[in-house]
Amino acid sequence: MANEMMKTLVQTGRGTPTGNLLRRYWVPVMLSSEIAEPDGPQIRVQIMGEKLLAFRDTQGRPGLISEFCSHRGVSLYFGRNEDNGIRCSYHGLKFDVTGKCVDVPQAPQVCERMSITGYPCVERAGILWAYMGPKDKQPAPPGVEWANLPDDHVFVSKRLQESNYLQAMEGGIDTSHVSFVHRFEVDGDPLHQGTKANDYIKADGNVIFEIERNDFGLTLFGRRKGEPDSYYWRVTQWLFPWYNLIPPFGDHALGGHVWVPIDDHHCWAWSINFQPHRPLSAQERQHLSEGKGVHCEYEEGTAVPGGTFRPKANKENDYLLDRVAQKEKRAFSGVFGFAAQDASLQESMGPIQDHENEKLLPSDRAIVMARRMLYEAAVNLEQGIEPPALDSNKQRVRAAGVLLPIEQKPQDWAKVHLADAKDQQVYSL
Ligand code: FES
Ligand SMILES: [Fe+2]
Repeated sequence: MANEMMKTLVQTGRGTPTGNLLRRYWVPVMLSSEIAEPDGPQIRVQIMGEKLLAFRDTQGRPGLISEFCSHRGVSLYFGRNEDNGIRCSYHGLKFDVTGKCVDVPQAPQVCERMSITGYPCVERAGILWAYMGPKDKQPAPPGVEWANLPDDHVFVSKRLQESNYLQAMEGGIDTSHVSFVHRFEVDGDPLHQGTKANDYIKADGNVIFEIERNDFGLTLFGRRKGEPDSYYWRVTQWLFPWYNLIPPFGDHALGGHVWVPIDDHHCWAWSINFQPHRPLSAQERQHLSEGKGVHCEYEEGTAVPGGTFRPKANKENDYLLDRVAQKEKRAFSGVFGFAAQDASLQESMGPIQDHENEKLLPSDRAIVMARRMLYEAAVNLEQGIEPPALDSNKQRVRAAGVLLPIEQKPQDWAKVHLADAKDQQVYSL
């Protein structure tokens, strides 16, 4: 059963149970800026094993369509983006942003049956999102807080991770790893340093978790010693099927991730920072674009439209491992940067972790719950039972770091202060 579950969860191609499930949610596909210009160059993009082409048409509408022409399978990457559509360079068939065939020069009468796959798109937070599921099941656009803020409140980046999405995402659910591989990073990083959060985290390494399963996914309540009459709670959210929201540090921007399969051996690790109530300052934006916090620096020339967005620290250079820094306790594993630290460990498991031989610990309870939720939903969907967490209103939750009186239940507090984040203050220390 466990075996069957893991095999099912790591496969996301079209027609697989997990692939069908993930296609019922809006998918972050690429940066909007990769197709900035109307009639600009079209970009190849692969999501869940599907080879797709993104472009912006003459009217500025984004399109995400099959990469290949319906005539004889030529890649439309070599076509022409002009006059509200992509024209295949081989024999001139033309397709609009929806994939509809709008011109067959040789045989106009067959135009209708020459259409190719096209997915509905929305643009939010500088990301092009697509819905890749059945047409009649399209949910409301994503309700997660950062995707609904003005653009200047949000910074997003993506990086290639050379592993299955599941083991990457599990790093976002498994908050107990922060005390190890990220231990020394929080002091020097401008998105984390100088906060009470660091003091509490350092003072009490024995974090005790309570996990709540709810309408949108999981809430993880991590308890540490606070002041004499209080506990310090760090509240992490995992939103079905692939988001997490990280408990904040002081006044620094709030953060989160999304993990989206490219194929079964690669995923996009999206990293997000945002300020709910104000635009990010020039300084914050500068740090973020330099790759600080949960973002990264890129291998030269790869962070360009349609590029690989491969990090500068990657598996070929052992993530720039520095044994001296490790010895001197400047980097726990010798790797610097949150993103590279996570990627190095998660990619070291191999493109798909050998789940058969893993031996889970009590601290893996949240991961096990998330796996079960995804698996149940995938299996249920095969039997016609609708997936959970499609109500975008339920996704408006927020993460927090807060001191609560010893006797107060954090679950009750979260229902009032974190469920519909929009009009709430940020709880962070
Ligand atoms: S292959 Fe595209 S028009 Fe012939
Ligand atoms: Fe991490």
